[in-house]
Amino acid sequence: MSGRLEGKVAVITGAARGQGRSHSVRLAEEGCDIIAIDWCRNIDSNVYAQANAADLAETVRLVEALGRRIVPIVADVRERSEMFAAVKKGVDALGHLDIVIAQAGIAPLGPDVPVQGFIDSVSIMFSGILNTIDASLSYLSAGASIVATGSVAGLMQGATNAPGMGPGGAGYSHAKRAVARLGHDLAFQLAPHSIRMNVVHPTNCSTDMLFSEPMYKSFRPDLENPTKEDAMLAFPAMQAMPIPYVEPIDISNAIVFLCSDEARYITGMQFRIDGGALLTSSTSGAPA
Ligand SMILES: NC(=O)c1ccc[n+]([C@@H]2O[C@H](COP(=O)([O-])OP(=O)(O)OC[C@H]3O[C@@H](n4cnc5c(N)ncnc54)[C@H](O)[C@@H]3O)[C@@H](O)[C@H]2O)c1
Repeated sequence: MSGRLEGKVAVITGAARGQGRSHSVRLAEEGCDIIAIDWCRNIDSNVYAQANAADLAETVRLVEALGRRIVPIVADVRERSEMFAAVKKGVDALGHLDIVIAQAGIAPLGPDVPVQGFIDSVSIMFSGILNTIDASLSYLSAGASIVATGSVAGLMQGATNAPGMGPGGAGYSHAKRAVARLGHDLAFQLAPHSIRMNVVHPTNCSTDMLFSEPMYKSFRPDLENPTKEDAMLAFPAMQAMPIPYVEPIDISNAIVFLCSDEARYITGMQFRIDGGALLTSSTSGAPA
């Protein structure tokens, strides 16, 4: 039986671990070849470690085990020239490009983070997404699908400048809001070319980003040094459904659908995978 993405090629940023690895594997299961981009280096304003070369090698191993081709590339999404070279290298090796999944990210939360944290958040999660799309655009044709990763943080009222989140947290929600808007405005420009763009908005997702000290502190501001166990008590309050978080595979499954021909007329969507996190918010899209 052929897969839902048989013969397609996808570029995925932040592919070394977490959601990016899950998307790489899940798309490969559906017959897609992968251009896997990750910087594999730490970001100074972000206290928890980013992925490393061994993580990216593991993504390669998992995709190759499925019999698909994968081109791993170390590049920084903030650097336009690196991204243009990376996407070109991937397309040269795999022949074409049909899917763009722009989702590398950091979460430099907390009041002690310098203002540079704001710049780093926006550079990676907004400019980085724009660079990824820009570097890919000339290879895309009718039927192509772009998915950017936002966050429920970008759709919640009042998330920017929330108390205790610091400059990096403000930059995080600024970037996510901007990505949501980009998904609307750019989708309109791409529509006449039959190229689609959608934005997925995860709630808490079970990755190293969620299981990080700054995230524990943001969920438990009442404690000085909250542990993972302390944060686990607070995680469920985010969702209307009785869960602490979703799994990367939940985001990957939504992305497979959005990139498949089943979604051929779906574009400009703010696609929430959030266990109902936004149902308590007036921004959920329901009529007033
Ligand atoms: N985990 C959550 O709770 C959650 C919730 C909502 C949205 N998101 C979003 O999901 C996306 C994926 O995050 P994740 O949860 O898999 O976290 P993660 O920390 O596991 O993965 C992020 C990946 O991005 C890479 N990266 C960071 N900076 C980069 C750069 N400059 N260039 C290239 N690669 C870079 C890292 O090395 C890492 O592999 C992010 O955009 C994040 O904001 C996460």
